[in-house]
Order: sequence, then C-alpha cells, then structure tokens
Amino acid sequence: MSQPSKNVQAIRGMNDILPEQTGVWQQVEAAVRNVLAAYGYSEIRMPLLEKTELFKRSIGEVTDIVEKEMYTFDDRNGDSLTLRPEGTAGCVRACIEHGLLHNQTQRLWYMGPMFRHERPQKGRYRQFHQIGVEAFGMAGPDIDAEQILMTARLWKQLGLREVHLELNSLGTAAARAAYRDILVAYFSAHRERLDEDSQRRLGSNPLRILDSKNPDMQALIEAAPKLAEHLDTESQEHFAALRAMLDAAGVAYRVNPRLVRGLDYYGRTVFEWVTDRLGAQGTVCAGGRYDGLVEFLGGRPTPAFGFALGLERLIALLIDLGVHPQPETAHAYLVLVGAAAERQGPVLGERLRDAVPGLRLQVNCGGGSFKSQFKRADRSGAAWALILGDEEVANGRLGIKPLRGDAAQVSLSEAEAIARLRELLER
Ligand code: HAM
Repeated sequence: MSQPSKNVQAIRGMNDILPEQTGVWQQVEAAVRNVLAAYGYSEIRMPLLEKTELFKRSIGEVTDIVEKEMYTFDDRNGDSLTLRPEGTAGCVRACIEHGLLHNQTQRLWYMGPMFRHERPQKGRYRQFHQIGVEAFGMAGPDIDAEQILMTARLWKQLGLREVHLELNSLGTAAARAAYRDILVAYFSAHRERLDEDSQRRLGSNPLRILDSKNPDMQALIEAAPKLAEHLDTESQEHFAALRAMLDAAGVAYRVNPRLVRGLDYYGRTVFEWVTDRLGAQGTVCAGGRYDGLVEFLGGRPTPAFGFALGLERLIALLIDLGVHPQPETAHAYLVLVGAAAERQGPVLGERLRDAVPGLRLQVNCGGGSFKSQFKRADRSGAAWALILGDEEVANGRLGIKPLRGDAAQVSLSEAEAIARLRELLER
C-alpha cells in the first residue's frame, strides 16, 4: 500500500446492496424461483462477459444499447469483449453451443447483473439485475400466454399492485420491412418536424422513432401509419389467439400500438408491465417473441419467447407500495457474560442449532458488558436474548428473555430452553 489517500468510491450507477436490503432481495428472488419452478423452468448460468460481436449481431448495431451503452474493452489477447447488457444473447449462444435446442423444447431462466452505460437516475443504473426467462422451440401463442400468466401470478404472489400490462404485435420481419418503407415515406414528408435523434433513426431504425418521448414529436407520431394496419395475417391470428387466452384467464391488458421495444430481435408479440409509481423508469418487466434470433446466431431455425424483469425496479415498487417481504433477522441472540460463559458460548450455540432446526442464532463475540451485549442483541433484530452468565454456567442453566415487550427473564435447563425455542419457532 502506498500513501493513504481519499476514499475510493463505487462507480457511478453501480450500487452496493447493503445487508439491510439483501433480505428483501433474497425473498423476492425466492418467490420468483418458486413461480418459475411451478411452470417447469430450469436455471441456466452464463458468463458475464461475451464476445462483443454477439451483442452487436443480436441486439442490433443501431440500437441505443449497442451504439452507446455497452462496456466494451479489449482483453489482454486483443479480443473485444463486452460486459453483458442483457441475457438473451448469451442464453441463445449457450443453447446453440451445447446443443440444447436439437429436437427439443427448452424452458430456461437466469438471474444476475447486467451492465449498460446509461445516464443513472432513479430506477436506471449502470449495473442492474435481471431475472430473465427464455423458452425455445414453441411457435404458438400458448407459450406467449404462459409466460405472461406466469408474470401475473408472480405479481399476485408478491402482493404487487399497480402494474399494467401493455401488449403489441410487431408482425413478421417481412411485414415490418414493408411497414418500415411506409413509415420512412411518412416521416420523410415531415422531416423538418423530426428531432435530431429521429432524423438519425429515419435512415437506420425508423420504428424506434415511434418510441420517442420528445413531447414536440407526439402529434406527428400519433398521426403516423400504424403497424397494426399492416400486419401479416398469420401474425394477426397469433396475436388474436394470445389475446383470447389472456381474456379467458382474466388478465387485463392494453394494446399499445407504439410499443416497439429497444432491441432488434423481436417479432410478433411484445409486452411490458409498467407502473406510473416509479417516475420515468416505469417498466418493471418486458419481453416478447424473437423467432429469428437462434438461426441468425448460427443455430437451426427455432422459435423463441422470453422476458426479463428488472429487480431494482420491482423491489423499489414493492417498497413503495409497502408490501415488500420482511427481512429475516435472527430469532435469538446469545449473551455471554464472564470468562467461563465466553468459552462455552460457541459450543452451546452449536448444540442449540443442532437441536432446534431452522433456529437463527447470533452468538455474542468480542466480549462486552451485559448492557452493551443487550444493545447488540436489540440491534440484531432478534426476538429473544439467551443469557449465559457465571451463575448459569455453574448451575447448567440458561436465561431467556423476550427483547420486545417487558416480560421477565426466566431461567431454564438446556433441555427446557431447547423445548421453549422449538415452541417459539413454531408459532
Ligand atoms: P429490456 O427491456 O432491455 O429487455 O430490459 C428488461 C428490464 O430490465 C426492463 O424492463 C427494466 O425493468 C430492467 N432494466 C433495463 N435497463 C435497466 C437499467 N439501466 N437499470 C435498471 N433496470 C433496467 C431485455 O433485456 C431483454 N433481454 C428481455 C428479453 C428476454 N426478451 C426476450 N427475452
């Protein structure tokens, strides 16, 4: 180490998730795992780094992500690598590479950090976490419906309200290409009303103009020809069948003809779950169908459907609504006063954990007065203090005192204490 210097701080837009927050994260993750298991999805884990080319090819060269947001660098061999901005590309790569798509369907999910060099603000970070879901080999609207119903079930299980489902169909690549020409003709005729971003997109990705949030452009966008009016018949039927399944299941949605998504691989169904409780970054979960991507990345033609939910946004919304799960704190804190108690404490802790399955017990370490240990016990969030002092050591007993309310301390034998803890845990 050289000279002491100014504290090194975290990178802007990359958050520490502190111990007081990780409890909620773990419980939300566990709830998602349960729901995914209930639909027969299996976990896949991919590397955080992939070859840059993978993202350029799959997400699209003229998307915001690839143009301006990727963390790309040359490694020591001179290969261009990128920290994954999303999980679909890597998941497809892994499936092709390991032959997971040969004559079989797959239902997969993954969880982890993603990296985008966006302008940080509430709900928008440079490292953020997604739980992503991808299904391969199923072309019909049933799998679209399954995943949307799965997300709706998840919201229900988490007690999440105030998220609304938006749906659209982007049609086939051919229908989109024809529509693209119509759109280019329309916007070209009004070129003087396009902002700088949209002028650029006119030549590269005109559908994205529809996504513009610029208030000055809204009237122009509103009057633009609608993709829905230029959809191919099969896509129309696919979309109608999906809507009928959602209607039958009682899931409400709004068809939003302007929903186009920021990644190039989508076709046919796209969807987003949005809320207006999180300010500008209100999309909690988003995805859709991407039938062309597997083949485009070198696999056999394979239909695919998937989505990802943003954990930071989902958790912020749960906290905002006051329905976030309570973090799991310790049940009990073992206070150790005196040299003999300090020696016996860790071993007593082992015996208690053996005897009381599920017991979350913190054993005092580092000494301290009776009072200071009780303070620590209080701060640990534990419901009970267990007390081992000289007297208890001499008599083979253990004190137990609730930390909330003012019930008195009682003295029990170890066997009685174990029985009491079991009983308390069952409540
Ligand atoms: P995406 O719309 O780019 O889609 O991201 C999905 C979700 O990740 C967003 O709705 C949002 O909740 C969260 N998210 C995205 N960027 C940020 C950010 N900078 N900070 C915080 N949260 C963020 C995809 O990534 C696709 N791979 C989804 C998919 C899977 N489509 C098919 N399969």
